[in-house]
Amino acid sequence: MGRVLSGIQPSGQLTLGNYIGAMQNYVKLQHTEECYFMVVDLHAISVAQEPAKLREQSEAVAALFIAAGIDPLKANVYMQSHVRAHAELGWIMTTLSNMGELERMTQFKEKSAGKESVGAGLFVYPPLMAADILVYNSDLVPVGDDQKQHLELTRDLAGRFNSRYGEYFKIPEPYIPKVGARIMSLDDASKKMSKSNPNPGSYIALLDPPDVIRKKISRATTDSGREVKFDPASKPEISNLISIYSHCANMSVQEVEARYEGQGYGPFKKDLAEHVVSVIEPLQANYNEIRKSGEIHAILKQGAERAAAVADRTLAEVKERMGFLPPQ
Ligand code: AMP
Ligand code: TRP
Repeated sequence: MGRVLSGIQPSGQLTLGNYIGAMQNYVKLQHTEECYFMVVDLHAISVAQEPAKLREQSEAVAALFIAAGIDPLKANVYMQSHVRAHAELGWIMTTLSNMGELERMTQFKEKSAGKESVGAGLFVYPPLMAADILVYNSDLVPVGDDQKQHLELTRDLAGRFNSRYGEYFKIPEPYIPKVGARIMSLDDASKKMSKSNPNPGSYIALLDPPDVIRKKISRATTDSGREVKFDPASKPEISNLISIYSHCANMSVQEVEARYEGQGYGPFKKDLAEHVVSVIEPLQANYNEIRKSGEIHAILKQGAERAAAVADRTLAEVKERMGFLPPQ
């Protein structure tokens, strides 16, 4: 059994991109691996968050994990801030990082572009993510494509620690879906679908009512022509919708293409909306039930206790290797 860790920020409504790119794989991996899935609230505050909203969104993301099919008896679900070792190993990873490599992170470049003042938290966000992963000596990290570069940095930091202080960390591998690792915006297939996009028509939120989902899909931008063909280079908009279809209908890209041969975009989009709704509707029913039950707090408490037992041990061993005087 390997160890698996991943996290999602409580910085807005989760989207179908989060579900397809990351959460579907969480659900799959929990059956065979030892899993740690957290709501990364310490990462969310790398940009200012309103306290009441952060609290609500944290609980919402945790409930969505469970609603999506993560079984708290199989996987540990918890808040990042409830396991203190993350922040402490995060500082240690920051001290192992170089300014140059952090400046090269594309997510940092995108988030800081054109800003007059950029928070230092955004800059040291990747070493905190490295700490999240390494504090469990994780083998696999299920993420979407946009996190690949942060994973590379994590691997570099683990290697750097090992060469300075002796072999200790495993070098973790990313676990990225073949189709759907990068679900794009519905209004512009050159941008990833993101909860922080100011245009809500650009994303499908997991908590959007079914009729809103239908409307968003019917308005989604399509390429010129009428052929339902997967060709990201020349038909980026339709290819993105085909990826979504493929995941939600559990069909291969070729099967989707074959079903709509000669039919144009209209029937394809209509069926796509129903497939998306058929995935999201049961998820929302589960979500409402979990929120009403209030059981999420007990789940998070138990998840954090189990996670802290592993993380605290790693942190103590790391500090000992580095020459920190152990507490008596
Ligand atoms: P975030 O919402 O940035 O905290 O991302 C949480 C997880 O969802 C990460 O593994 C991301 O790579 C993944 N993710 C976010 N947006 C997308 C997207 N549009 N397509 C695929 N994966 C995504
Ligand atoms: N940086 C990730 C994102 O924005 C979230 C994250 C934080 C994460 N820590 C992690 C993902 C550890 C995987 C593993 O999507």
